[in-house]
Amino acid sequence: MAATTAMATPKRLWIVGASGALGGALREQLSREGHEFVWTYNTRKPTTEDPRAMFLDVRDVSSIEAAAARANEVLGSIDALVYLAAIATDTGRFLAMDDVTQESWDQLSAVNLRGAFFTTRAFARRCDRGGNVVFAGSIDGHKPVPGSIPYAATKGALEALVRSLAKELGPKNIRVNAVVPGILERGLSDLLPAHLVSDYLAHDALSRKGTLAEAASIFSFFATDNSYVTGRAIAVDGGL
Ligand SMILES: NC(=O)c1ccc[n+]([C@@H]2O[C@H](COP(=O)([O-])OP(=O)(O)OC[C@H]3O[C@@H](n4cnc5c(N)ncnc54)[C@H](OP(=O)(O)O)[C@@H]3O)[C@@H](O)[C@H]2O)c1
Repeated sequence: MAATTAMATPKRLWIVGASGALGGALREQLSREGHEFVWTYNTRKPTTEDPRAMFLDVRDVSSIEAAAARANEVLGSIDALVYLAAIATDTGRFLAMDDVTQESWDQLSAVNLRGAFFTTRAFARRCDRGGNVVFAGSIDGHKPVPGSIPYAATKGALEALVRSLAKELGPKNIRVNAVVPGILERGLSDLLPAHLVSDYLAHDALSRKGTLAEAASIFSFFATDNSYVTGRAIAVDGGL
């Protein structure tokens, strides 16, 4: 007898910050699974026309409500928000402790943390049937690992945001979680100096980086299929 794969019911998603490494993998995964989505970019406008792609700079809080309204209009309704937007530096280089400025601290906070709150509120205002919010955390904000301090601080605060939003939005049946990657094959982790990557992998049970597809499949599950997990940060890190 032929094996069958259970498919989640098709969902409608708003993916914020999906022009990067993980965003690309997630879009592929969701397309394969038959979900509908609109997604945002900031500096990396798609080179080919994509009616589902929309510009959004989450540092401009006043533009977030309009972006959510546009996503809602295109999709008809939204079942899930996935928030991938993040920066690890504002200088193009790894931010070691002595490189951190007030400006870099504020920029990382605005993108990695503040934007997550305001996009979630905009989503929740339009979500009357329950749904999922999934943030991209990071192992740096979850455990003591070698990394950048302001990045770790914003990602740690994101996990606190998950817990409080889960309580706030539970009565609307909106589940809020963070998926917390370790080091993936590409993306923001490219900024990490090689000796810190080696240090990390030396303590990793699987002794390797995660693939983008491995991470994307977990994001997809929590965005489209999850009905009872909320307020949690789920590590996808190969067992660190
Ligand atoms: N790759 C890893 O190893 C790894 C590990 C742990 C956690 N993560 C997390 O996974 C998520 C995706 O990371 P990635 O590796 O795919 O990074 P990435 O390729 O650099 O993608 C980051 C995304 O954030 C968007 N973004 C940056 N500034 C923004 C702003 N002001 N407004 C709106 N969007 C903005 C980028 O848009 P533009 O490119 O269009 O500017 C891009 O879509 C991040 O939250 C990251 O912290 C990744």
